[in-house]
Amino acid sequence: MRKKALVYGICLLGMVCTLSAKDKKGGALYKDAKAPIEKRVDDLLSRMTLEEKVMQLNQYTLGRNNNVNNVGEEVKKVPAEIGSLIYFEANPELRNNMQKKAMEESRLGIPIIFGYDAIHGFRTVYPISLAQACSWNPDLVEQACAVSAQEARMSGVDWTFSPMIDVARDPRWGRVAEGYGEDPYANGVFGAASVRGYQGDNLSAENRVAACLKHYVGYGASEAGRDYVYTEISRQTLWDTYLLPYEMGVKAGAATLMSSFNDISGVPGSANPYIMTEILKNRWGHDGFIVSDWGAIEQLKNQGLAATKKEAARYAFTAGLEMDMMSHAYDRHLQELVEEGKVSMAQVDEAVRRILLLKFRLGLFERPYTPATTEKERFFRPQSMDIAARLAAESMVLLKNENNVLPLTDKKKIAVIGPMAKNGWDLLGSWRGHGKDTDVTMLYDGLATEFAGKAELRYALGCNTQGENREGFAEALEAARWSDVVVLCLGEMMTWSGENASRSSIALPQMQEELAKELKKAGKPVVLVLVNGRPLELNRLEPVSDAILEIWQPGVNGALPMAGILSGRINPSGKLAMTFPYSTGQIPIYYNRRKSGRGHQGFYKDITSDPLYPFGHGLSYTEFKYGTVTPSATKVKRGDKLSVEVTVTNIGARDGAETVHWFISDPYCSITRPVKELKHFEKQLIKAGEMKTFRFDIDLERDFGFVNEDGKRFLEAGEYNIHVQGQTVKIELID
Ligand code: BGC
Repeated sequence: MRKKALVYGICLLGMVCTLSAKDKKGGALYKDAKAPIEKRVDDLLSRMTLEEKVMQLNQYTLGRNNNVNNVGEEVKKVPAEIGSLIYFEANPELRNNMQKKAMEESRLGIPIIFGYDAIHGFRTVYPISLAQACSWNPDLVEQACAVSAQEARMSGVDWTFSPMIDVARDPRWGRVAEGYGEDPYANGVFGAASVRGYQGDNLSAENRVAACLKHYVGYGASEAGRDYVYTEISRQTLWDTYLLPYEMGVKAGAATLMSSFNDISGVPGSANPYIMTEILKNRWGHDGFIVSDWGAIEQLKNQGLAATKKEAARYAFTAGLEMDMMSHAYDRHLQELVEEGKVSMAQVDEAVRRILLLKFRLGLFERPYTPATTEKERFFRPQSMDIAARLAAESMVLLKNENNVLPLTDKKKIAVIGPMAKNGWDLLGSWRGHGKDTDVTMLYDGLATEFAGKAELRYALGCNTQGENREGFAEALEAARWSDVVVLCLGEMMTWSGENASRSSIALPQMQEELAKELKKAGKPVVLVLVNGRPLELNRLEPVSDAILEIWQPGVNGALPMAGILSGRINPSGKLAMTFPYSTGQIPIYYNRRKSGRGHQGFYKDITSDPLYPFGHGLSYTEFKYGTVTPSATKVKRGDKLSVEVTVTNIGARDGAETVHWFISDPYCSITRPVKELKHFEKQLIKAGEMKTFRFDIDLERDFGFVNEDGKRFLEAGEYNIHVQGQTVKIELID
């Protein structure tokens, strides 16, 4: 009997042991890769303690921080239970070590999600987002983002804090470089393309990452272009201008969003229940999560909302912000807030659920570690470099080309002058990821390759990007006198745009302008090549330049495309996605402003009221002739189908690509509307002599309709206009 009991006891113990061993090794439902993800999340949640849940809601850093704007309280011994880490390394080793700790030393073995700012490339840096928008080629942007995703994921990053889709109308704000310009719809289209490029169809693929729409919302409205400051945004403007790109990005499947730093008319973005809960979760049904911007919860104190960090944690969390990036507000105070009944357990569960859901979707439970690869396998793949070059080429905008000085077909002696000519760093742009200056082909080298055997090159620095030193002027003038044409490479340093990089004037430093004037003395044509991260004030440089090519910050492979445009091998096709003011004093100036009560008055007394280069401006080496814009009907009823077509013929001698921008306007509406609104665009390659048809399929509700201050779309009967390249077609909507 005793023997029997002992055997039974051993069996029971054995069973328990086997069970718990099995539980650990994969018997628990949440570890079963075949079980539905929702069930796995439920199962895991049911096993978690409050402390474990709270840890999932925090993000710390790992590796050497290379971001000067973000220096926070570093946690040296990261706990195994941490939810997320910003990963600053460019290879998976450190990640895998940390992940091992999470998988093996935490009670439940929940993998960490590693995030990073891969904004316009991870190591193969391609043009800044503002430049990308000027390509008007979302497919190419999608491909570039896919390259970034592949490099990031293979380096140990699962999640990128990109795309930035903040509508930006003030070029003094350094962060205009990071978004897709001044138009809400364009930001939405490019944002959605980025999401597709990063995430693909399957987040668990080894070459995809989760995307993050940022900065939700209205950050681009920062007063006077100063970073981090107050924004005054009415509910009407919030809906008709700032939210649209986010709605489009969420529809495209963006896994996460980042809350914004800015105070939105009295309620900071990171403590805003209307924006984070009412709109995003309740109305749009987003099932991902929101991460705060760096330290944004703590900063609710500086903004005058919360007196203590604990209060800040309560404001942010109850408003719907799931993850705390580097404020240490949730890790320190959330548990206490739950215990005091100020935050409900149900809301904690809901927040954790959203984070776990993404971890499962990324396949992190099955494949927590990143396989080791060589840098060569990850970075600068030939196809990636080709995408970077094509995107650079398509995003460059030919602003001026007097007397067809470009392309340089018959020039034998080219003087290459200026601080951007032999400069790798500044071509990378802000948020260069892991890009290095040595990765970059410099402009001079691109020209040398392009013109090898065709023209002789002579280089002179002329002057530095800033400062008072004119010592190089003489040598530069001599080179200009020797040459047939001057290629003058001017611009902004990389650090002058991006985060925390506002400028009170958007002109180039005086020394650079003086260099351009000096070179004019040589009497040779001057081709100005501009490297910059924002629209510039060019009213003094424009008269001394025969041609101006805006190449932005084109990344590692922009030099040869630039040279290709100068030589004529490439026909430029970029068009501005952001207005170039005539002068800084005109700011804000953007195409889709609302109408004035006195359109014939109210102009500046001292300068023109027109921009120097408007939204959509961009020249080509060929000429496009538009046919008559033809609608399928001129009278429509609600629910009808309507389409409009226009033919475009390339009547020049070169092949070229043309972007057709389709705008609408509603002359009278119960809520006043912008003078015109971009609703559709399309870019097509048109061979010399060929004609192509462009078509806009109109959804009346979406394209003619408007949104009110509650976010409700409405469509009023009456007259609507469709505008294409100087033509206007009237459509009547009858009830
Ligand atoms: C920026 C974000 C960025 C975050 C993490 C913040 O300072 O505003 O755009 O994603 O830092 O680096």
